[in-house]
Amino acid sequence: MAQHTPPLLLILLLCTLSVNSSFQPALVLEMAKILLENYCFPENLVGMQEAIQQAINSGEILQISDRKTLAAVLTVGVQGALNDPRLTVSYEPNFIPVMPQILPSLPVDQLIWLVRNSVKLDNLDNNVGYLRIDRIIGEETAAKLGSLLRDNIWDKVAQTSSLIFDLRYSTAGELSGVPFIISYFSDPDALIHIDTVYDRPSNTTKELWTMPSLIGEKYGKKKDVIILTSKHTVGAAEAVAYTLKNLKRAIIVGERSAGGSVKVQKIRIAQSAFYITVPVARSVSPITGQSWEVSGVSPTVNIIAKEAVTKAKSLLAVRSAIPKVVQSISDVIGRFYAFTDRVLLSKWAEGLYRPVVDFESLASQLTADLQETSGDHRLHVFHCDVEPESLHDVPKIPTAEEVGYMIDALFKTELLPGNVGYLRFDMMADVEVVKATGPQLIKLVWSKIVNTDALVIDMRYNTGGYSTAIPLLCTYFFDAEPLRHLYTVFDRTTTTMTEVMTLPQVMGQRYGSSKGVYILTSHMTGSAAEVFIRTMKDLNRATIIGEPTTGGSLSSGTYQIGDSVLYASVPNQVVLSAITGKVWSVSGVEPHVIAQANDALPVAQRIIAARLLKREQGK
Ligand SMILES: *[C@@H]1O[C@H](CO)[C@@H](O)[C@H](O)[C@H]1NC(C)=O
Repeated sequence: MAQHTPPLLLILLLCTLSVNSSFQPALVLEMAKILLENYCFPENLVGMQEAIQQAINSGEILQISDRKTLAAVLTVGVQGALNDPRLTVSYEPNFIPVMPQILPSLPVDQLIWLVRNSVKLDNLDNNVGYLRIDRIIGEETAAKLGSLLRDNIWDKVAQTSSLIFDLRYSTAGELSGVPFIISYFSDPDALIHIDTVYDRPSNTTKELWTMPSLIGEKYGKKKDVIILTSKHTVGAAEAVAYTLKNLKRAIIVGERSAGGSVKVQKIRIAQSAFYITVPVARSVSPITGQSWEVSGVSPTVNIIAKEAVTKAKSLLAVRSAIPKVVQSISDVIGRFYAFTDRVLLSKWAEGLYRPVVDFESLASQLTADLQETSGDHRLHVFHCDVEPESLHDVPKIPTAEEVGYMIDALFKTELLPGNVGYLRFDMMADVEVVKATGPQLIKLVWSKIVNTDALVIDMRYNTGGYSTAIPLLCTYFFDAEPLRHLYTVFDRTTTTMTEVMTLPQVMGQRYGSSKGVYILTSHMTGSAAEVFIRTMKDLNRATIIGEPTTGGSLSSGTYQIGDSVLYASVPNQVVLSAITGKVWSVSGVEPHVIAQANDALPVAQRIIAARLLKREQGK
């Protein structure tokens, strides 16, 4: 809560008062005194009483005759000044204070009746427990009931495999019952500080901790717990939900809770018929440094309360699939990639997949963990309801009519000043497609640029595609003799090594090995496009200008994870440099000349112009 300086409080209080007419200064002084002795944020009240006294003495306070109006004005003043909506002043000449019912004073058979009516336990399919508690039983009541709660509720819950803990209707209860519940869902090894409650009237601070020993079986911290909340969930139930959520022990499904208070009292102002309602205690969670009071508990999964049970069930179904998924991914990685994964399995065992509420979040968590373990950002797990196309990736050979459109859409050529060619293509086509479209490609694209003095190849928008045409494309930039070793591919699935060479023959004219080639890159340039660029760089055949590229892979396999809706994309080939014999790094291609992708073309043109000029002068 915001800290207020006394003058601000005073001004807020008095400005609202001064527009009205009649008023008793004594009432305001009494009200201030009650706040000083009872309001749970005493630090916000420093200097208030003196300031009010001073204002009264100087005659600044005007009189308000209508009492209801006065109460409303005081409410606005005090709420505004202390920034706490729970503070209200009322005028109630007929108010009869009700003594709050103290549970432990009830006879045991009435207590049992009460508990029966506020607890519901059920066993759903797949041994999912359902426990609804409408009242959090306090410590003293629980002690009075002896083993009854344990035998009839907690020991039975402990037999379930996962739990839906329904607090949607929990509108009553005592904070002293919270430590038991938190302890029940924790391990006894380390005690947890749950809450610090400050009570202003007694000026005492009480810390709530988990309990070192519980009689009976605990639920422990491994099994899934889903807490359901509604906008009516209030008080001790909010403390339970808030704590288990922030301990990452439970997933909260439902609506934001009511945002109650630890303790609010309605106090009569002196002997008048005016009352002030004051929060007299406050709770601070040592886990967050904040509280569930006023603002409530925000759910992990937001859904209207009446759909929360269905949602929780589907969520538990997702979660029960996780161990199998993790095992399958480990198998896929072991078969098609370099290392055998153990990390994911141990992360699951440690309960680190707690935030996972659906297959999307599972996929992104698994991706993050795989990438962290391997240092390879190309490993991906993704979620797909239908089989991804990449599972059956057969390139489509275009028909004669399609070829023209395709070339128009994919290729862009231009003649830049100084007889410099410009070629942009945004996709790496499959070699069969290239062969099928060969004559038109030569005529519509290649012939326009092949006789230039230098060539700019713009691959800034090329995110990759098929790698089969890379050798063909490279071949155009070398002479027919000798054949050049471009790179070597090691296929993990077949454990074969293949040396990739330039081709002895190509259709049409080669660009040859001596004219300048300049390749533009961006951070989007990926996979097969990168392999082409890296080869040209490796063989010292092009100047690369632009941004470092994505760092994709020559070829990735897509594998279904078990029979789930998850798929893993795993780079299954390793490329070795023809020059160094070493494995290409998984990071992108570093350009020779670093430039923003936007500036890459003018930068290239300047470099080309300077080199062509130098060559002219050299002649
Ligand atoms: C409350 O107690 C603390 C010590 O626990 C003391 O320093 C403080 O003055 C007390 N405040 C009031 C208003 O009594």
